[in-house]
Amino acid sequence: MRGIILSGGSGTRLAPLTTITSKQLLPVYNRPMIYYPLNTLIAAGIKEILIIVAPERAGDYLNLLGSGKKFGCKFTYEIQDKPAGLSEAFIIGENFIDEEDVIMILGDNIFEDDLSAEIKNFKSGGKIFAKQVPDPERFGVVEFDANKKAISIEEKPAKPKSNYCVTGLYIYDNRIVEVAKSLKPSRRGEIEITDANNWYLQKGELQVAMVNGEWIDAGTFDSLLKAQNLAKEKLADKLII
Ligand code: G1P
Repeated sequence: MRGIILSGGSGTRLAPLTTITSKQLLPVYNRPMIYYPLNTLIAAGIKEILIIVAPERAGDYLNLLGSGKKFGCKFTYEIQDKPAGLSEAFIIGENFIDEEDVIMILGDNIFEDDLSAEIKNFKSGGKIFAKQVPDPERFGVVEFDANKKAISIEEKPAKPKSNYCVTGLYIYDNRIVEVAKSLKPSRRGEIEITDANNWYLQKGELQVAMVNGEWIDAGTFDSLLKAQNLAKEKLADKLII
């Protein structure tokens, strides 16, 4: 399985912190933010990792992470010229993914749990990771029926059908590349990961795993502060990188 860390975007919500560097390189306690999602992949044995970055920040990533050798990995870099949606990662990464399955994690997503077992037991189709949150309208939202089977996924719905949000960790079989290419931009002009998830859901091939520990999308001042505290209190000693 190949890994992708999507670490593009301009992080405007975190200006002026992001005026001279990338959101995903900001400090989260004693490590740059991207170390946390990178740790999630490396802990699960993923060694070939594509890091997708914004053009003006590419040099910073190379300086920090380099070839990947110091982490026992091989890193590849690609540029996302402008944020055109999460699903674009699978188009940008087409050659890198080759014939393999692929796991993608967002560069600003921090998971407390060790998800290695859930990652390693992926077989085919798609697998996403859901978490109950107080503010589901900010995220992709998954609705379950009485048997806990996922029945719908909506991107940032005004009236969420549940409080289970889709976190920024996604695993797909190789069909994802063609699925991503077939998607039409949404109203916000992006090819949405939610539409890719719905493609697998409609085929009955989307698995939804639960995240039990804390999960933070560190893209706002408040969530960044929460991430700092989580990192200090629970993650600093557990990370392997
Ligand atoms: C993206 C996805 C959303 C997901 C979230 C997780 O949102 O579109 O479905 O719940 O990441 O962090 P965005 O970061 O584009 O607001």
